[in-house]
Amino acid sequence: MARRSTSLNHSVLNAEPRVHQRGREIQPYGTVTHVFHLELEEPVRLEMTEQLNQLLADSMTLRDLYKKSHWQVAGPTFYQLHLLFDKHFDEQVEIVDTIAERIQLLGGLAIAMAHDVAETTRVERPPRGREEVPVVLSRLLDAHQIIVRRCRELAERSARLGDQGTNDMVVSEVLRPNELQTWFLSEHLVEGPLVHATEPASQAAD
Ligand SMILES: [Fe+2]
Repeated sequence: MARRSTSLNHSVLNAEPRVHQRGREIQPYGTVTHVFHLELEEPVRLEMTEQLNQLLADSMTLRDLYKKSHWQVAGPTFYQLHLLFDKHFDEQVEIVDTIAERIQLLGGLAIAMAHDVAETTRVERPPRGREEVPVVLSRLLDAHQIIVRRCRELAERSARLGDQGTNDMVVSEVLRPNELQTWFLSEHLVEGPLVHATEPASQAAD
C-alpha cells in the first residue's frame, strides 16, 4: 500500500513543469564545432565566425538606431523619414538574420543579446534623447560607413581563405543593401531650396 502511494506521488511530480532551470553551456562562445562537412578547415571557420560576429554586432546596432530614428524623428520631413527609417529597419532585420545564421552554419555561435552587442559594436552610442534631423541622418550614415568598410575587408579575406559562401553573402546580402540605404540617406543631406530656386549668377547681378 505504501509502495503504491509512492509511485502515485512520483507520477504527479513528473507532470509538473520544471521551471527556473540552469545548466552548463553546451558550446562556449568563440568556438566552432569540430566535426563539419563543409570542407572548410577549423581555423578558417573560427576566423570567419569571429569577423562575422563583429559585422553582426554593428548591424544589430544600426538596426536599433533605425528604430530609434523612426520613433524620435521630428520636423517638416517627419513623414517621409518616419517611413524610410522603418523600411530600412525591416531590411536590417533580414540582414542580421542572414549574418547570424551564416555564423551558426559555420559551426560558431552568433552574438544575440543587447548587452553583448553593446560591448562589441564600434558604432558610437547615441544619447537617449531626441536629436535634430541632420544629426540623426549623420549617425545612420556613420554606422553604414563602418559596416560597408568591414564588408569590403571581410569579402576580400573570405575569398582569400576559400570561403566563397561567406564572400557571396557579405557582398550580395550585406554590402549591396547597405550601399543602397546609404544612397537614400545621403540624398537628404544635400542642401537645396524648398520654395525659391537659386537664380543663375548673371540674372542675380542685373
Ligand atoms: Fe512604427
